[in-house]
Amino acid sequence: MEPLLLVSLSSVLATSLIFLLFKHKLSSGPKLPPGSFGWPVLGETVEFLFGKPDKFVRDRMRKYSSTVFKTKILGEKVAVFCGPAGNKFIFSNEQKLVTEWRPHSMQKLMRSYEAKSPPPPPTNPNESKTKVLRQLGFLKPEALSRFMEQIDSTAQQHMKLHWEGQSKVLVFPLSKNYTLSLASKFFLGLDEHDRITRLANEFDDVSAGLHSIPWKIPGTIFYNASRGAAAIRKALLSVIREKKEVLASGAKSLDILSFRVAAADPATGRMMPEAEIADKMMGMLTAGYNTVASAITFLMKFVAERPDIYDKILAEQLEIKKSKKPGETLAWEDIQKMKYSWNVTSEVLRLTPPLQGTFREAMTDITYEGYTIPKGWKIYWTVSSTGKDPTYFPDPETFDPTRYEEGSPALPSYTYVPFGGGPRLCPGKEYARLVILTFLHNMVNRFRWELVDPKEKIIEDMMTTPSKGLPVRLFPHSA
Ligand SMILES: *[C@@H]1O[C@H](CO)[C@@H](O)[C@H](O)[C@H]1NC(C)=O
Ligand SMILES: *[C@@H]1O[C@H](CO)[C@@H](O)[C@H](O)[C@H]1NC(C)=O
Ligand SMILES: *[C@@H]1O[C@H](CO)[C@@H](O)[C@H](O)[C@H]1NC(C)=O
Ligand SMILES: *[C@@H]1O[C@H](CO)[C@@H](O)[C@H](O)[C@H]1NC(C)=O
Repeated sequence: MEPLLLVSLSSVLATSLIFLLFKHKLSSGPKLPPGSFGWPVLGETVEFLFGKPDKFVRDRMRKYSSTVFKTKILGEKVAVFCGPAGNKFIFSNEQKLVTEWRPHSMQKLMRSYEAKSPPPPPTNPNESKTKVLRQLGFLKPEALSRFMEQIDSTAQQHMKLHWEGQSKVLVFPLSKNYTLSLASKFFLGLDEHDRITRLANEFDDVSAGLHSIPWKIPGTIFYNASRGAAAIRKALLSVIREKKEVLASGAKSLDILSFRVAAADPATGRMMPEAEIADKMMGMLTAGYNTVASAITFLMKFVAERPDIYDKILAEQLEIKKSKKPGETLAWEDIQKMKYSWNVTSEVLRLTPPLQGTFREAMTDITYEGYTIPKGWKIYWTVSSTGKDPTYFPDPETFDPTRYEEGSPALPSYTYVPFGGGPRLCPGKEYARLVILTFLHNMVNRFRWELVDPKEKIIEDMMTTPSKGLPVRLFPHSA
């Protein structure tokens, strides 16, 4: 925990006495979900941020209710919806009963741009940001399959530069190098040595600050994150200005940034100011970088622990490699054949979800399971409320990709949700799949690997990370 937090805790304690004296007067009114608001001001934020996130939810499901409980985190009263029914309720009431909401820390980091006058009303109010992106078409399979060649050649380059000829490497920092290089190519059209890719530390600071207490005090996670965000924004603005010049000279470019710079936002019909484009691009880069690197890192860890699983992946990937001419890069169709590899990846995402869950806001008073969730309350759902439930995933802490095979009991809807669901299903899902499977293909066809430290401590907070960066020993296949 941050030392400054302790100092502020004591002043919070004084307030809490006053609060407790009046607490009994607040108990009438609508029947709220069971649960605890914790400390005044901080609520249960410290437990939420610095404990195991799946334990936070599962402990409270046991203690209060397995369907919905209340808490106070990140400065807000929150109803946490649990189980497949909770997921279904949220995913199917998008823009009817619930709307997108992001923690204050995330809002402050990701948005510097405030429109001077209110933005014109959307020409079509049904356009969510996600829909707009899908419409732009960048995350559609057709667009991604055009990008496939670049993903594979980047992966090959990356292997040559950082893995081949090495006997020992750190997986986590290297996966971040790979995913940030790709994200800057795909989103910004930059090569891997450009200024943006040199900001990996800044991106890490921003990711760490997305869920944090937004007090800008030197030394805190949020302070570091704000500094990182400012540096990224500055670099992005220079990229945007250059991009404008390049486009003005008539050059064609296929990245998302070029499109944003050249075209009006389909949701509002207006051109986007540079500062707003910078915010949007920073959001996409942050989302597409650390989460994918985390998935790759734990894939490497779990596969290292299970040589039998490694062998099956290798058999699948070798088949695909044999079907290619020398020098031919992977194609979209090859990715579709990586069924076993994808099932293994799916199990990684269940056990160590790169994103724990997301928030919504109640648009109106909501009645759920006999409780009232008042308008304006925040709503939270998590991957693990179902993903770690032994009813659906027997022996949930065991890594077992056979769960997804035919012949195993079918998983009920809304139980496996690492990418969310409904209209807000993660728009980057396909992108992540291509990037991860291409990496795995290149990896198993070159090496076996083993963990240097099988007992390495895993830090389990909002983003699960190996404490030493996951050192592995590499054994190249004999040529
Ligand atoms: C928006 O969605 C609602 C309900 O789904 C529909 O009735 C309405 O026609 C849509 N409006 C537009 C402008 O597409
Ligand atoms: C990856 O590593 C290369 C070589 O060390 C470096 O030039 C590049 O900036 C790094 N990229 C990222 C995204 O970290
Ligand atoms: C903030 O950044 C400084 C300097 O890079 C670092 O020493 C410190 O550990 C960081 N603090 C947190 C809480 O991340
Ligand atoms: C992978 O999982 C799917 C279900 O998601 C299942 O139908 C299939 O049999 C599995 N394939 C392999 C090779 O394990």
